[in-house]
Amino acid sequence: MPEADKEGKDYYLDIPVTCEGFFLKGSNALDWGMKNRLSRIFNPETGRTVMLAIDHGYFQGPTTGLERVDVNILPLAPYADTLMLTRGILRTTIPPTFTGAIVLRASGGPSILKELSNEQLAVDLEDAVRLNVAALAVQVFIGGEYETQSVHNMTRLVDAGTRYGIPILAVTAVGKDMARDARYFRLACRICAELGAHYIKTYYIPDGFETVTASCPVPIVMAGGKKVPELDALTMSYNAIQKGAAGVDMGRNIFQSDAPVAMIKAVRSVVHEGLKPKQAYGLFLELKAKSKGVKKAGRTK
Ligand code: R5P
Repeated sequence: MPEADKEGKDYYLDIPVTCEGFFLKGSNALDWGMKNRLSRIFNPETGRTVMLAIDHGYFQGPTTGLERVDVNILPLAPYADTLMLTRGILRTTIPPTFTGAIVLRASGGPSILKELSNEQLAVDLEDAVRLNVAALAVQVFIGGEYETQSVHNMTRLVDAGTRYGIPILAVTAVGKDMARDARYFRLACRICAELGAHYIKTYYIPDGFETVTASCPVPIVMAGGKKVPELDALTMSYNAIQKGAAGVDMGRNIFQSDAPVAMIKAVRSVVHEGLKPKQAYGLFLELKAKSKGVKKAGRTK
């Protein structure tokens, strides 16, 4: 039995109890577990995140660069704040010693051969808890053929996530024939936020992206999209951050680079350190040259 404590005597009456606001836009009223999970995704010091998206296989199979996640992606994992992936890849390929945040793909159904907007929820919340995920990602197809169904997937996931303290990432998916302009993205992002998404992944557009972030009451992370030259991808990331994005969720522009580790480090320098695109590109070239030099030296031994 511990000795009975004498009643405490120093109550620091001159120090007011701190009452801090939470660092992420629109997230102050969330519960502790939600905020803790969001703090695993977004770095509380910078308020930003570098998410590495590798979930492409859920509708298009072994995408270029993701044929062997163990070989191509694991070396990048230490530089990602968050991996965005499916539970299949998580369980089979990601070592449980990985301590970064996991954002789990929670919707799916149609393959690239069918109507992509016809998704349903594809993960039970109990399994998400078992996998200790930091958030769940769901595709929302505003203007798509199965718009209502995909919005309903999101709202059901928000309800379930709220029960367990798991934030929901809404991913705005744009159909091939739809206009990718500020008006569309304002509409899509705002609908997702109004209906409860905790943060949103959406595409960068050069004209009016700041109106998309301004009119969305929760954080936005910039989607990467198809592979472009590294300087362009770094410039797009920089501009998105300047115009209010709270980070990036990038896949092909990192893992399809011919120097993926150098690229993810360069992206980090833009997102977390505010490097300008040309400086970050310089860093990319320098790291790329070093990595090629190391590889060459390894071969001549
Ligand atoms: C689709 O919208 C998915 O979220 C993707 O599989 C993935 O996240 C896209 O990443 P990226 O366009 O940067 O390759």
